[in-house]
Amino acid sequence: MENPGRFSDVVVDMRTTVAGCELDVPVWNASGVWCTSAAELRELALCPWAGAITSKSCTMKPRTGNPEPRYYAEADWSVNAMGLPNRGLSYYMAAASRLQDVRSVPADDRSHPIAVARGPPRPKPFFLSVCGLTHDESVAMVHDVNELGFAGVDGIELNLSCPNVPGKPQTAYDFEATDEVLRRVAECTDTIPLGVKLPPYLDLAHHDRIAEVLGAYKSVIRWVTAINSVGNCLALDVGDLCPFLRPKHGLGGFGGGPIKPIALANVWNLRQRLPSSIDVIGCGGVTCGRDVFEHLLAGATAVQVGTYLMENGPASLGNLLRELRVIMLMHGFERLADCRGQLTERSGQQQ
Ligand code: DHB
Repeated sequence: MENPGRFSDVVVDMRTTVAGCELDVPVWNASGVWCTSAAELRELALCPWAGAITSKSCTMKPRTGNPEPRYYAEADWSVNAMGLPNRGLSYYMAAASRLQDVRSVPADDRSHPIAVARGPPRPKPFFLSVCGLTHDESVAMVHDVNELGFAGVDGIELNLSCPNVPGKPQTAYDFEATDEVLRRVAECTDTIPLGVKLPPYLDLAHHDRIAEVLGAYKSVIRWVTAINSVGNCLALDVGDLCPFLRPKHGLGGFGGGPIKPIALANVWNLRQRLPSSIDVIGCGGVTCGRDVFEHLLAGATAVQVGTYLMENGPASLGNLLRELRVIMLMHGFERLADCRGQLTERSGQQQ
């Protein structure tokens, strides 16, 4: 009798593409998490379970950010009011360039034996996140990356949703301002793929409107990342009778497990409304393989991980993939592409 093989040997093909860039596995860091220093970026480059790398949202010049405490986490959630601490655009451009050889190292799966299909070794994509304090600054950064060349940068993720700089509203809640900044960015982008990081929207009219604005730039926008943290939330320390965070009167961006339904609704609503040439990257509420699977079902082509990665480190991305592999096989999906967008409505009589 033929050897039926072991479950653990069945290879699952988790390869996916973002803006045409190939990823061996569909998870990597959300901007801001494990990506502020060159040392952290290098860890992601070497981690076989990070399919890509996003750098910390940067400004033109380095910033120290808001006063501490500016991050607080409990078991599966976090709040942060970091205030864009970053080393400045040229630091991240240099890191992208220097990490090119490291990113080509073939995956070493001895520490996390997972049977996933792998293509030929290729550089892991590096997405540079930019977040100007003004629209002029964002446009100038995109302009400079295009002008100076972009060795090792596979795409720019334009962050239109930072909630944490005092006095600066989240651009993507203002549809006219978003249209204006995208028009200006589009004028100075030619070949480098552009993504946009969006805040959570909670009204379908807002999903309609943002999709309309983004769709008008479909020749340059290749992906959207949904969602950033839920902005301006208040987490309280009852022992000290005050917020956990110091900046912004204690208000901060909320992330982790509890925001998953908000993230999934945004992925699904945007996938329904955007042209198919724009990938939707899921982000929000991922703490296990099932959560990654749910994002894929809702239509995500890949998934970024924030709080869970912050709390557990790069090797923990392997846990997500091990669990995802089992769930896919239980459903008979051997390729990621087979489960993407497979969500159906519950059948039966409507009320
Ligand atoms: C920061 C937080 C964000 O959610 C973001 O998108 C960009 C920056 C921060 O506080 O540093």
